[in-house]
Amino acid sequence: MFRKVTSAIAAFAISAALFAGPVFAADPIVIKFSHVVAENTPKGQMANKFKDLVEERLGGKVVVEVFPNSQLFGDNKVLEAMLLGDVQMAAPSLSKFERYTKSLQLYDLPFLFKDMEAVERFQQSEAGQKLLDSVNRRGLVGLGYLHNGMKQLSSSDPLRVPEDAARKKFRIMSSDVLAAQFEAVDAVPLKKPFSEVFTLLQTKAIDGQENTWSNIYSKKFFEVQPYITESNHGLLDYMVVTSKEFWMGLPDDIKTDVKAALDEAIKFGNGVANQKSVADRQKIIDSGRSEIIQLSDAERAQWVEVMKPVWKKFEKDIGKDLIDAAYGSNM
Ligand code: SIN
Repeated sequence: MFRKVTSAIAAFAISAALFAGPVFAADPIVIKFSHVVAENTPKGQMANKFKDLVEERLGGKVVVEVFPNSQLFGDNKVLEAMLLGDVQMAAPSLSKFERYTKSLQLYDLPFLFKDMEAVERFQQSEAGQKLLDSVNRRGLVGLGYLHNGMKQLSSSDPLRVPEDAARKKFRIMSSDVLAAQFEAVDAVPLKKPFSEVFTLLQTKAIDGQENTWSNIYSKKFFEVQPYITESNHGLLDYMVVTSKEFWMGLPDDIKTDVKAALDEAIKFGNGVANQKSVADRQKIIDSGRSEIIQLSDAERAQWVEVMKPVWKKFEKDIGKDLIDAAYGSNM
């Protein structure tokens, strides 16, 4: 009798254990983070850090899957995919939000910021933080800015004065401001995805492009571009975004922890950006593959003079107050 009771209890315990797993273990929330750059870049490093922090703190509850190098989505598709729920996070360059908001065109205005300190001051100001919300009405949530750095001009021929760029084809990101910037020097801008730039340069389908030291180095553009003009003429920074639907659907405690991990990862990524803008520039110099052209003050003044009228063209869409506030951060 006693044996019968104990084996019944044992049988119950075994079946309870068998059923306990599927009933109580909730599936983890999966965050697919898609980006287009290499892993050894500010954005690549930030995304990996975010993954590590989330898994360390929310292990089992949230899983982050990072897809670098346009493996999952290229830059022209990722935001559409996000709104469809096929990816949960990305950090496109600020130039790639034009279809979602005109306000962020601000960041593409040539010669707006004198250095990254001015960019940081503006982005952390009330006006800069408010710009993160400019994508809300399109179903996106701006979670924070991430730096990459100032852009340089690379080319198959030396570019010292604006006339040197005339009639040359330059790849640009999908931004009308950037198109206007190159048209201002009588060049031909072509909007092309980041994943195609190396081949376009290698096959000489285009003459040049603009990018940061980190992107020029990590995507090997310097191997197929004999000249890089250190122009610092524009900014390439990112906005980390998610969809409203995904973000609002997260339980509050998880949302708080995910945001804290992201803020920490962004801080880390900004440190990487700082360091790479110096180190990757030096690696390009050391490679001997590209000549770095330094502009004299007079040469630089010529680029400013022909490109700055672009501001006026976009003033109505962006807002004069915003342009003044951003420019004011240089002081
Ligand atoms: C990126 O840094 O995300 C890509 C920039 C580009 O498209 O040039």
